[in-house]
Amino acid sequence: MAGGGGRPSRGARVVLCPLPFQGHLSPMLHLAGALHARGLAVTVLHTAFNAPDPVHHPAGLAFVAVPDAIPEAVAATTNGITKILALNAAMEASGHVRDALASLLAEEGAPPLACLIFDSSVSAAQNAAAGLGLPTLVLQTGSAACFRLFRSDTYDMLHDKGYLPATESNLHMPVKELPPLQVRDLFDPSKLPNKEIGHKILNRATETTTKSSGAILNTFEALESHELEMIQDQLAHKGIPPFAVGPLHKLITSNDGGTETSLLNQDRSCIEWLDTQAPGSVLYVSFGSVVHVTQDEFMEMAWGLANNGNPFLWVVRRGLVLGVDKQELPDGFMSAVEGRGKVIEWAPQQEVLAHPAVGGFWTHNGWNSTLESIYEGVPMLSRPIFGDQLPTARYVHDTWKIGILLEGVLERGEVEKAIKKLMDEDEGVEIRKRAKDLKEKLRMCLEGSGSSQQAVDKLVDHILSL
Ligand code: UDX
Repeated sequence: MAGGGGRPSRGARVVLCPLPFQGHLSPMLHLAGALHARGLAVTVLHTAFNAPDPVHHPAGLAFVAVPDAIPEAVAATTNGITKILALNAAMEASGHVRDALASLLAEEGAPPLACLIFDSSVSAAQNAAAGLGLPTLVLQTGSAACFRLFRSDTYDMLHDKGYLPATESNLHMPVKELPPLQVRDLFDPSKLPNKEIGHKILNRATETTTKSSGAILNTFEALESHELEMIQDQLAHKGIPPFAVGPLHKLITSNDGGTETSLLNQDRSCIEWLDTQAPGSVLYVSFGSVVHVTQDEFMEMAWGLANNGNPFLWVVRRGLVLGVDKQELPDGFMSAVEGRGKVIEWAPQQEVLAHPAVGGFWTHNGWNSTLESIYEGVPMLSRPIFGDQLPTARYVHDTWKIGILLEGVLERGEVEKAIKKLMDEDEGVEIRKRAKDLKEKLRMCLEGSGSSQQAVDKLVDHILSL
């Protein structure tokens, strides 16, 4: 093991390249900490945009910045796919990632570089490594179910079988090849203004895996055993081992300098506020770092929360409401919820979910939020917005049965009822019980000989064998 900042004991180095958005950066940085704690030397190659702060990471991790960025005009758009494609194009054009990898390969006196671990959305980094003969491993930051789903061959099947393009009449149809998914949970490239972009991103997702020497998944056996088996079968004949090492945010409880990955300042006043609330009484509401809601949806959320009557902690992050930087709360809202409602811009989410006062999580089901909620045994009210959030919410509701799904047009009466169901009614009691059971299963995966710890051991052995 490497001590705090000490020399690595395994005689090899890995370089990690994250996608610079909160939901992708965090799992990669946690993986960096876990590999470092297992004795590998670790270098994080990151963009100047949304750069991690080395101060918040174990002292032995090295950080190298590349100046590539998403062009300003693209950064201003709300379309994530466009941003990802633009970042990759900038990396390919500048050659900065290639140059940084070449210098790391040439560095004298450092442990030899074994491989690049890259976020599945940063294919430019994989291409740069391939050009230098450096093996690559892909990190899939979403669920195993989404890893299976977002592939060009799966989408060929969905088109061949007539599920896609989706029509008004087939939206509720079960996709019998991919239970529990329904057509409305699928990403439909035909709905994008530029269909080609959708196909491009699916082709890339497939290619990045097939060109990798291994696939790292931020999930755990007890949660997605069937999906992981299918992935194992699919990849085995290509010689690509999968490693289910999740949830990465809890893989190590480090004595080696902790890992703090939040890009925004977390408002800690909410913890003191939670201390004043009754156990299990508070609904925590947060939609992660990138999704938007419309002004109308925001109003329905606000009055649904106010009319329901349960205490709540609501993260209204800057930019949450489409086209607005700092959203004002509706007139009369704060006085209507006085003493039982708190609104902040950004929370220490993991600490909030761990707080005994929190009894439910109204979430967009980003994969990190979902794993963080499962880890704490907090049942969910799901309101997925796009991409992997829709299939994840379906799993939360139909397969794991640890949440309630809020679909259709957002309307305050429905919001009020859904919160009541989760927090106060018999259905919520059953859901809560299942969430607690799943939490226990997860904790076992993380124990010394648990499946996720074993998977990291195997991953390290695999890296050393490359
Ligand atoms: C994005 C996508 O939207 C998501 O679907 C995908 O799975 C990952 O990339 P994001 O929308 O930000 O991520 O959601 P999520 O994956 O849940 O990540 C949000 C992270 O921000 C979590 O780790 C959460 O703990 C953190 N967070 C969120 C805070 O620290 N404070 C907050 O107030 C809200």
